[in-house]
Amino acid sequence: MSERRRRRSGPRNTRSGSPAGVPASRPATDDGVLLRLDGVTMHYGTGHNSVMALAGIDLTVRRGELVAIMGTSGSGKSTLLTIAGGLVTPTSGEVVIADTWLSEASARDVAALRRRVVGFVFQDFNLVPALTAIENVSLPLELDGWKRSKARRAALDALRVVELEDRADYFPDDLSGGQQQRTAIARAVVGGRSLILADEPTGALDSQTGEMVLRMLRARIDDGAGGILVTHDPRHAAWADRIIFLRDGRIVDETRRDDASALLAPQT
Ligand SMILES: Nc1ncnc2c1ncn2[C@@H]1O[C@H](COP(=O)(O)OP(=O)(O)O)[C@@H](O)[C@H]1O
Ligand SMILES: [Mg+2]
Repeated sequence: MSERRRRRSGPRNTRSGSPAGVPASRPATDDGVLLRLDGVTMHYGTGHNSVMALAGIDLTVRRGELVAIMGTSGSGKSTLLTIAGGLVTPTSGEVVIADTWLSEASARDVAALRRRVVGFVFQDFNLVPALTAIENVSLPLELDGWKRSKARRAALDALRVVELEDRADYFPDDLSGGQQQRTAIARAVVGGRSLILADEPTGALDSQTGEMVLRMLRARIDDGAGGILVTHDPRHAAWADRIIFLRDGRIVDETRRDDASALLAPQT
């Protein structure tokens, strides 16, 4: 009997037993697993227009682990990330984020999990232009009800990690692309969020700046977060512990860092 079936037949953790705001949880598999996708499929549309974007994805990301995803345009990379972040519910399969089984959690609990555990980094940075770097980073915490002063302290700590403390009061327009992306990384990890999902975060950067951003991302991962990095650049993928190759919504190949490093060593 598979691990999943065994768990499914086990006792369920009822939401009524959880304190308000605390997602119902049980162990995903074992310690250190931050994200688990189990037989995840995703169909968009219906009938003739139906597209199968993901066709049975099994994937685990642990603390301290960065998984790179490569694949041609349309292979399902972004769909996988949005499902992994709890933004989209898959057609079938299980998603477990930080011990919370999304299929069993309330919409409110999933929303709280997205705010507190998951941080997204996008190709085009997605910073709010009218807010300074520190305001951009503290925004998610303030939206989550943190006191302003506490949120700003946490934001400053996060900016320090990406070596942008001295740019805290700059607006995005006055930052370089690399600095904007490092600000976005700070926003993704602020307040102890631990699952970083980055969708082509280096796509808009020159390769040297891209490597700097990845070094920052890698440092956060080594510090106990976990993450997925979607990238087209094999040199950037080499910053990951594993590289997964997607084609037509399926994992068609996987390379571990040890195997990949000889071919794809970061050129620093
Ligand atoms: N919101 C959507 N509605 C319909 N089809 C979509 C939607 N998002 C993605 N798709 C389709 O799903 C497939 C995978 O897309 P996507 O996950 O964006 O791939 P990638 O990020 O690898 O380019 C593609 O065929 C795409 O056209
Ligand atoms: Mg994409």
